Amino acid sequence: MRLEGTLLLPSPPEEDPVEAHGLNPWASGARPDAPAVRLVPGSIRIADGRIADVQLHPDAPIGSPLISPGFVDAHLHLPQFDILGAAGLPLLDWLNRVTYPAEMRWADPTVAERQTQRAVDQLLAHGTTSFAAYATSHHESVRRALQVITHRRLRAVVGQVLMDQQAPAALCVEPDIALRETDNLLHEFGPFTSVTPRFAVCCSEAMLRGAGQLARQHKAMVQTHVSENLAECDQVRRLHGAGYVEVYDRAGLLGPHSVLAHGVHLDKSQQQRLIDTQTVIAHCPTANVFLGSGAMRRFDGRLSLGSDIGAGYERSMVRVARAMIETATHVAGPIPSPAQAWARITAGNADALGMTDVGRIAPGHRADLVMIKPDVPWTTAPDPLGMLLFAWDNRWIARVWLAGEPVV
Ligand code: GUN
Ligand code: ZN
Repeated sequence: MRLEGTLLLPSPPEEDPVEAHGLNPWASGARPDAPAVRLVPGSIRIADGRIADVQLHPDAPIGSPLISPGFVDAHLHLPQFDILGAAGLPLLDWLNRVTYPAEMRWADPTVAERQTQRAVDQLLAHGTTSFAAYATSHHESVRRALQVITHRRLRAVVGQVLMDQQAPAALCVEPDIALRETDNLLHEFGPFTSVTPRFAVCCSEAMLRGAGQLARQHKAMVQTHVSENLAECDQVRRLHGAGYVEVYDRAGLLGPHSVLAHGVHLDKSQQQRLIDTQTVIAHCPTANVFLGSGAMRRFDGRLSLGSDIGAGYERSMVRVARAMIETATHVAGPIPSPAQAWARITAGNADALGMTDVGRIAPGHRADLVMIKPDVPWTTAPDPLGMLLFAWDNRWIARVWLAGEPVV
């Protein structure tokens, strides 16, 4: 199969139109060294689910359709699709009153299976073809969710949530049992699953240390939350007698395969420790607004971007990318350009999650692609990527392929 159109390709930072033509209207400007994307007319040949060949016609004018790598979401919760938009509460109240009751429904594996199917349908309809997700603490239900993911041929990670305190008994599992279950999943599903201590509030010291050991043993991805809300940070200090980053550091949970969601209230030394250990922060701008957690400040380490469904109210990663720019305009520091935002939700997130064969239109990569037919005059806009980002309408998604097979 061959697809023709305008291709969204990784680009050296100096070719970002914002850098090249001064198109960033915000005084502080974009970070000049950040990866970007560019638009180049061309065609893609697909064979055996992979991109076999990419032909470029750099002198031809750009035009529809636009072909993008499938979007990558670095942080979301599968059981929370039914509580999207449950507004009005800060983090800890939202967890207790809305989230934990919803997650208890996953005690039934058929509920988990059905909800995973629906979540995947929604994600694909919004162009998201890869993601890193949390399930719940119910082992059999997490297995069902992972079976759905592998059966539908998604390049995704789903972790069994580890929690043993400060939450309803129905969701808490003793460390020895929960860690053995995660160990089993790592044996059965390999890189499709992760070590997933929910957050330091609901994990005992024994759970956190066991999680760190397991992650090291399997060289597995770690997913957790950090420093999202001030009341939560206080509670971590009360429960563990140390700052948030230090608690994870002591447990061996930091490192290049660790993705920590939020990181809104980190001080300089905590940020530096994350930078030194190459730990990834999953910035979740919509969720931070929704729960009133605060605005993420400048972080010069490894960054990814997550919808954080269901605290995040946007399923579309293009909308989350726009929210990232909006948030950056409210705090001191560089403001991502549209080209950087598009890079973030494709190759940037794939790199941050260690997914080496998605997120790019390049030979050998999986043919996980989105065909976009915009109904705005993007080809003649001063910054076409900016118009596509800010005017984004999900109805522009004409087709989505997973490993070369049409799924939308
Ligand atoms: N911290 C611990 N659990 C959660 C969760 O489910 N969502 C968010 N946004 N933060 C959390
Ligand atoms: Zn989350």
